Formats: sequence, structure tokens, C-alpha cells
Amino acid sequence: MTSEVLDRSLVLDAVRVTEIAAIAAWKLVGCGDEKAADQAAVDAMRTALNDLDIDGEIVIGEGERDEAPMLYIGEKVGKGGKHKIDIALDPLEGTTLTAKAMANALTVMAWAPKGTMLNAPDTYMDKIACGPGYPAGVIDLDRSPSENVKALAGAKGVKPNEITVCVLDRPRHAEIIADLRAVGARVYLITDGDVAGVMNTADPSTGVDLYVGSGGAPEGVLACAALKCAGGQFQGRLVFRNADEKARAARVGITDLDRKYDLHEMVRADAIFAATGVTDGALLDGVKVKDGFVHTHTLVLNSATRTAREIRMKRPV
Ligand code: FBP
Repeated sequence: MTSEVLDRSLVLDAVRVTEIAAIAAWKLVGCGDEKAADQAAVDAMRTALNDLDIDGEIVIGEGERDEAPMLYIGEKVGKGGKHKIDIALDPLEGTTLTAKAMANALTVMAWAPKGTMLNAPDTYMDKIACGPGYPAGVIDLDRSPSENVKALAGAKGVKPNEITVCVLDRPRHAEIIADLRAVGARVYLITDGDVAGVMNTADPSTGVDLYVGSGGAPEGVLACAALKCAGGQFQGRLVFRNADEKARAARVGITDLDRKYDLHEMVRADAIFAATGVTDGALLDGVKVKDGFVHTHTLVLNSATRTAREIRMKRPV
């Protein structure tokens, strides 16, 4: 890991960016239009980023330049200056959740010193994660889900049926879910939002011990930035369904397609992570308007100082 650290004064700048995107997306909660909600968050996030004194480059964004007019991978943002930053973002993590006014939609962003975050292609990634306090290597992507449950239960000093595992509710996860249930684990299914799914493992109040399954690779990098700050373990391996996805990996410089990445290989230096609730969720409250003020709830983490702050902002509507 490099010893580079971002200036701690940037923490509040990051908060302002996710707050403003959350307010923009919230205006479209329940509208049934995922694209419009995402676009509102993208526009707001980009404007906010370009107003900051940073020399930022999007490494995880809305896609490649030809498919994303804004916040595309490689786009430079900010007014420039001494802070050279890699930016990973998901302006709206949970576009469907937002469009359907369901819980757990977030705006998410992570910053790390230039050149220290994995340029993950927009493909799937197999993921496994647990929270802090366990011996290194207690979980392993190359073991079956039930073996991981048994190992984690042993380390926690409980029975496998006292382990709760968060999984995205997808047909592709049927075997994983069956294997977990066969060992007696409790399976907590989520409809979307695996950044929060992974983060749940580091927050004892959620009751989630383990995360397994495949989701977006970009979301994997964002989740790693959060766990880097909150503590915990993560392993991920890219999943390629066709030649086009392999070409995406090649374009971002990935040559070893079977590589298993751990948390500190995906985010190689200290990071700042910010997420603001759009709709109410397990980790964060959603945007609210009360008595002429708009209210937001943000979690901001700085791995260099191991600080976690929850920030509630209110401003006139
Ligand atoms: P969007 O907000 O971009 O729609 O992503 C939501 C999400 O649930 C992610 O959290 C997750 O990584 C990915 O979609 C899973 O993809 P899929 O819906 O194809 O299973």
C-alpha cells in the first residue's frame, strides 16, 4: 500500500458532492424513470465536482466515453490544483430503487490519490466480503459459500445458523442461495444495491456477517473504498460473459483476466468515501423536505484517520 494520503480538508468537499446528487435524484423518486433519475444525479454530481479545487480523473464512472456523455472513465473534473485524485463514483446506486421509491438508494463516491484505484471495467465481479475483527483469510472466494459460512461461524464462535449472509436476489445466485441454506445460514436477499450490501457487513447494527455473489465490478471498487475505511475483508474476481467484456478489460489495462483481487489491491492507498441516502435505508436516511428545509444524511469515511462521520445537512428548499 502506498503511504499517500488525501488532505483531510477534502472530506467535506466529498460530502457536498454526494449531498447535491442525492437531492437531485430524490426529486425523481417514484417517477418510474430510472434514466431520468440517474441523469439528474449525474448532472448534479458533475457540476459539484467541477466547482472544486481538485485535479480529478474519473476512474470508475458512467461508462466509456462513447457511451457516457458525462462522468465517463477518463474524464477530468475539478478546477485543478494540488489535489490529484482518482474518483470512483456511482451518482445513483439503485436507479430502480429510486424509480420505484424503494429503500436503500444512495449516491456514492470514493476518492484516492491518483493512480491508486483499480480501473475496473463495466463488467460483473464475483464478490465476497465480511466485516472487521476476523483473522486475515477467514473468507476466500475460491471456497464454496457454505465453507465460508462455516469458517466465519468458527471465527465468530457461533453456529452456521447464526450467520446472516447478504445476497442480491437474482436467478444467477440460485445455487449460492441453496448452498447457504443447506448449511443453515440465514440469507438476507436484497433487490439491488450491493455497495450497501457489502457495507452492511461492517455495520453490526445490520446483523449481516457476510456478503456473497456477483454484481457490478465498479460497485466492487466503491465497496472496497468503504471497507478500507470501516475495516473488513473483500475479495473479487472479474466475470466476463463475452469478447466485448474482455475487450473492456483490455482497454483499462487488465491482462490477467482470472486474477483474484483483495481489498487493498483494488484500493491501494488511503481513501475518502462518501454516500448520501436518497431513499431511507439500513445505513442512511433518505432525503426529506420538512418545514421549508431539505434534509440529507451522509456517511463519510476517511481511511487515513479511520474516522467515520454521519453528517446531517439542512438548507432552505
Ligand atoms: P444501478 O443503480 O446502476 O442500477 O445498479 C444497481 C445494482 O443492484 C448494483 O448495486 C449491483 O452491483 C448491480 O446493479 C447488479 O447488477 P444486475 O442488476 O445486473 O444483477
